[in-house]
Amino acid sequence: MTQQEDAVITVEIEDGIAIITINNPPVNAISQAVRQGLKEAIETINSDDSIKAAVIAAHGRTFIAGADVREFGKPPQPPSLPETISAIENSEKPVVAAINGVALGGGLEIALGCHYRIAGPKARVGLPEVTLGLIPGAGGTQRLPRLIGVEAALDLISSGRHAGVEEGFKLGIIDGVTDGENDDIKDFAINFAGKAVGDPLPQISAMETAKPADDFFETQQKKLAGKARGQLSPLMALDAVKAAVELPFEDGIKKEREIFQKLRDSDQAKALRHAFFAERAVSKVPGLENAKPRTLETIAIIGGGTMGAGITVAVLRSGFDVIMIECDADAVARGQANVAKNLDGYVSRGRMTKDQKSDLLERFTATTEYSELSDVDVVIEAVFENLDVKKDVFQKLDAAMKPGAILASNTSYLDLNQIAAFTKRPEDVVGLHFFSPAHVMRLLEIVRGDKTSDDVLSSGFAFAKKLGKVGVLSGVCDGFIGNRILAQMRKQADYMIEDGAMPSDVDKAVEGLGLPMGPFRVMDMAGLDISWAARKRQAPDRDPNERYVAIADRICETGYFGQKTGSGWYVYDNGKYEPNPDAEKIILEESGKKNITRREFAPQEIQDRILYAMINEGAKILAEGIAKRPLDIDMVEVFGYGFPRWRGGPMCTADLIGLPKVLDAIKGFEQEDPAFWKPASLLVNLVETGKDFASLNA
Ligand code: 3HC
Ligand code: NAI
Repeated sequence: MTQQEDAVITVEIEDGIAIITINNPPVNAISQAVRQGLKEAIETINSDDSIKAAVIAAHGRTFIAGADVREFGKPPQPPSLPETISAIENSEKPVVAAINGVALGGGLEIALGCHYRIAGPKARVGLPEVTLGLIPGAGGTQRLPRLIGVEAALDLISSGRHAGVEEGFKLGIIDGVTDGENDDIKDFAINFAGKAVGDPLPQISAMETAKPADDFFETQQKKLAGKARGQLSPLMALDAVKAAVELPFEDGIKKEREIFQKLRDSDQAKALRHAFFAERAVSKVPGLENAKPRTLETIAIIGGGTMGAGITVAVLRSGFDVIMIECDADAVARGQANVAKNLDGYVSRGRMTKDQKSDLLERFTATTEYSELSDVDVVIEAVFENLDVKKDVFQKLDAAMKPGAILASNTSYLDLNQIAAFTKRPEDVVGLHFFSPAHVMRLLEIVRGDKTSDDVLSSGFAFAKKLGKVGVLSGVCDGFIGNRILAQMRKQADYMIEDGAMPSDVDKAVEGLGLPMGPFRVMDMAGLDISWAARKRQAPDRDPNERYVAIADRICETGYFGQKTGSGWYVYDNGKYEPNPDAEKIILEESGKKNITRREFAPQEIQDRILYAMINEGAKILAEGIAKRPLDIDMVEVFGYGFPRWRGGPMCTADLIGLPKVLDAIKGFEQEDPAFWKPASLLVNLVETGKDFASLNA
């Protein structure tokens, strides 16, 4: 057997057992070389009489992370994965998978081709293909239901979730569990394989699939369709699992492969692959490679309102201690109560025990004393959105904090450069813009001021990672990346209701794009009074020539503030909602006042206007350097605003639609409203040069 130092597959023989080790860093993805190496190793083992059994093990902390996602979209190179797995399953000598870490997708499918699977304490198994817009394509949908039953298999396959070693053992995916590191796991597997020599070899493909209840697939289909919001892969996974019940194994495999190949080339799979890599690329900011993060151990938060309390919980749950500063004793008590209420939410949903809550609260103190901050590494300000209040706070922080501490502001709209200038250390000031609820939403915009130093930015990314959040770099502008795009989308929604649509038409169309809620439902949830107050503040500076829609102001004047008052754009009753007839009356009156002849908006037009408004603003944000790359905008929208991941984000969506088509539509809208719809010069430029947004991600 040939052995090379850097070979992705090596084979060693110990006491007649062949140990096939995969070594393809960083995650042992199944590249062509891995497929070929494995297949050849199995063939060699079967032709060598001195070998009695084999173990498939892996180097590093992963068993196998699945097919190499980078190979999708390229011409397939033989041998295929199903072929390789078939060779393993048909081996005349027992093959045992020694699962040391994650066995995902094709990685689990390889393990299911083995006759036995044993695992170490860090093993996790799963078929996450649906999250990449695919279904398992190498037997997973046919073997798993045969092994563990249709119900459990469909749950894993349609959700893509990972099962830990205990669950994997209980389900029957894993046959034996051992403690210890890779070498111990390998020894255990060798032993297991030795004992299996001479026994009949279990082949999952030869098992019968137990039939589920008659209405099982129908019920599951409805459930999945409700959750999928337009994503195809979970429903296609159901079709494939159904084939495991209805068809013989060979035909089921054919059906699985057909669906897999169709999905692999679909826009949804392209978008989800983009999201997979973009999620990892956002933190790799060009130019920050050599900036080392500062110490991030002690954290303080100023303000215990909605955001301060949410951020506190996010930080406590990541293992840090938190000191909260509020302005007086009553506010301290309110801040403490807000934090406790957030934690109670976890307890009531069974996601935290009362003891865990108490443990977290032990690491939390709230006070009015800035002197408590003298040793803190990072402070996050979340006080009222008012520049004078921020000025007072940042001057106090400048006086209280040690040199080298990071001073962060959670401001949504204020100018970070002005905030930084309130201190004598603007290089230490950064925006850390969390999204509400801050303990739930995964996005963190890391805002770079003119003077913010690179190591402070790099610390922002390190901090986001510690909090389990997705940090995205943004420059300073009104609303940063996310809220600036949101503002354009909302303006378009306002124009449409004044011109003829109703809020429920807009919401339904936007939800039809796959967003969880349309803009009017979101406003009702956040409270209409909040944006009303902001509009009143902005009124003196508003351009008198800009189109202003006063409908929301009129609704607020009647005392309808959304869900909190029971009515807003909708009327709420026992979790149900209906369009608010009073709001609709106001809409008609306001259109009448401007002599607008109301017209119909088809769902497609509403979707185009919303989407293209986002894309056009995104292109302007890119050209101004507020976002460095289109993928940064995409991840802001996916993680902060519920933009469907299966569309990849607005810039990826634009590429998939085709930029010439997007530009044509924008130019069409421009005829009727040139002030709003001026095409972004970057978009025009990309179309003229035949490029797409993806070309700017490199
Ligand atoms: N293919 C190619 N590259 C992969 C990969 C894969 N399947 N999985 C991870 N990587 C890359 C990442 O892009 C990253 O690259 P980078 O360093 O250049 O950014 C590197 O490996 C490390 O990945 P993470 O940063 O995600 O490392 P973690 O330790 O946090 O997580 C993991 C490891 C749990 C394996 C996670 O990477 C993961 O979930 N990977 C994807 C698993 C998956 O979806 N598998 C199914 C693939 S489809 C398939 O198998 C089809 C089959 O049915 C035919
Ligand atoms: P909030 O009104 O709920 O809370 C503000 C808190 O700051 C109050 O508890 C108040 O007592 C405290 N405070 C005021 N002055 C203080 C001082 N001098 N020292 C210490 N504490 C002081 O406001 P919210 O919604 O939490 O917003 C806070 C910041 O977060 C704002 O800048 C806002 O723009 C931003 N933000 C808000 C989001 C939201 O959805 N509410 C989302 C993202 C950012």
